[in-house]
Amino acid sequence: MSENLKNLQLSKILDLEKIRVVGNPIEKAHGLPNECYTSSDYLSIERERIFKDKWTVIGVGSSVPNVGDAQPYNLLGIPLIILRDKEKKIRVFHNVCSHRGFKLLDEPCALKNVLRCPYHSWSYDFDGKLVATPHIGGLNVHETEKFDKSSSNLKEVKTKIWMDIIFININSNELEFDEYIKPLEERWSKFISKEDQKLLKHSKDHGYFSLDVKCNWKFAIENYCESYHLPWIHPELNKVSNISDHYHIQGLPNRFAGQGTNKYDQPVKGNQSFNNFPNWPKDLFKKAEYIALFPNVMIGLHVDHFYVFWLEPKSFSETKEHLTMYYVGDDSANGSEFTEMRKKNAEFWKEVMIEDIKAIEGMQEGRNSPVYNGGNFSPIMDNPTHEFHKWVATNLV
Ligand code: FES
Ligand SMILES: [Fe+2]
Repeated sequence: MSENLKNLQLSKILDLEKIRVVGNPIEKAHGLPNECYTSSDYLSIERERIFKDKWTVIGVGSSVPNVGDAQPYNLLGIPLIILRDKEKKIRVFHNVCSHRGFKLLDEPCALKNVLRCPYHSWSYDFDGKLVATPHIGGLNVHETEKFDKSSSNLKEVKTKIWMDIIFININSNELEFDEYIKPLEERWSKFISKEDQKLLKHSKDHGYFSLDVKCNWKFAIENYCESYHLPWIHPELNKVSNISDHYHIQGLPNRFAGQGTNKYDQPVKGNQSFNNFPNWPKDLFKKAEYIALFPNVMIGLHVDHFYVFWLEPKSFSETKEHLTMYYVGDDSANGSEFTEMRKKNAEFWKEVMIEDIKAIEGMQEGRNSPVYNGGNFSPIMDNPTHEFHKWVATNLV
């Protein structure tokens, strides 16, 4: 079957689904159909209309801490480079040489001055400018007026860093990032100011883990948004903070969703605790919020720590989850007096995320059933999931 025909059939399905998903109130609505979780053709549509069109997350700044640090990233087949330039700014480029299209970077590395293509040694500076073209005009002739270097720079991707998260908009067609993030920043302004955001420090010792899960990336988002599953999937967590201590969060306009708790307990060791955000009001210390910013990042904000849990889709049924942790100020993030506490906190979150794998992989397996095709929602407990499905369906069709 030709690609066009396949896409046409898929878009017909999606057209119908859009009506089922978007056109109904939650009590009558259905979830996204099985194709959205079980088809590579469908994933290639998502790549175009979601991952290239939206503000997509491809990593965190703390993974390239120094000038010249570079790492490749593969966004569903699109080769990219994340690079920290001489002004310490993070830049993202398409990972392809302007000459014969060789993929420039294969492994993370620390560059000295240039990014050199292994094929014919054309070299680019950290601004992506083509600066060297050895022997381009014949042996030992490195420049020629027949070739204008300035038209062969690397192609840069529109990039924005927020709370250390690297967002890119490959097609440069999404609204400006500051506008995009405004509703969430306004929501969180009661907890942290823009100044407080700068206090976030990545923990280098117990600040990162990743998990490979056998499911579609969307299941991780759906599961993160709801607290309905707490008693069964997280029995331990449920003992300290149960369903009734949680509330749902619906971002307006529909760009994020999630849940919050009224019963967050700060980790302590004796009378020691992590630094708090300085402007977080005392009467809100027990609140913590867990938000999925569509499409592919989930964040958790607490009075004393923050994490970024972002998704690297690998195929329709494989996803790599990355979790990076941050504390308030250098001592909490990296001081030796807090090492034990950081270790425990990271272990706690890893345990929670591992418990969720059962849920999200179970949904993936269920989607092979011919009698299920999106199912129904609890009108009370599943609102954030429903809103996410609406967001996906609206952007696809
Ligand atoms: S392909 Fe990169 S220098 Fe030739
Ligand atoms: Fe969970």
